[in-house]
Amino acid sequence: MRKLFIPLGGLFLAIGFAHAANAVLDMELMQNVEDVNKSMASSIALRDAPASIKDAEELHELFKVVEGHYQAKPDAPDGLELSRKSLTLTKKIRDQVGAKDFEGASDSATELARTCRACHTFYKQS
Ligand code: HEC
Repeated sequence: MRKLFIPLGGLFLAIGFAHAANAVLDMELMQNVEDVNKSMASSIALRDAPASIKDAEELHELFKVVEGHYQAKPDAPDGLELSRKSLTLTKKIRDQVGAKDFEGASDSATELARTCRACHTFYKQS
C-alpha cells in the first residue's frame, strides 16, 4: 500500500500546483473528498482497520491539495487553517485506527465533518 501511496501523493501534489493558480477550488477534488470521507466513515463504523487506514491516508493526500490551493491565496487565511486542521485530523484518524481506537477515530471523524462545514460556510459560493 505504502508503495502505491507515494507516487499517488506526488500526482496529487502536481495537480495541487496546477490548481493553485485557479481562484476557484476544483469541484472534482471536493467530490473526491466527499466520496472518500463517506467511505472512511462507514469503514470506521464497520471497524475495518485496513479500509479505514487506506481512506484516511487518501483523504490526507487530498487535503494536501486543498492546502496547496489556500497557500496560494494569502487573502484566505481561514481556508489555510481549516485545511491544515483537516490534515491533522486525517493523520490522527489514521493513527487511532492503527491503534484499534475506533471510538476515538469516530470522534475525530465527527470533528473532521465540522471542519468541512466550517470551511464551506466561509468559502462555498453556491
Ligand atoms: C479548507 C476548505 C474546505 C474544506 C476543509 C472542505 N471543503 Fe469542501 N469545498 C470547499 C469549497 C471552497 C467548495 C466550493 C467550491 C466552489 O464553490 O467553487 C467546496 C465544495 C464541496 C462540495 C461540493 C462539490 C460539488 O460538486 O458541488 C462537496 C461535496 C464538499 N466540498 C465536500 C467536503 C467534505 C466532505 C469535506 C470534509 C471531509 C470538505 N468538503 C472540506 C472548501 C473546503
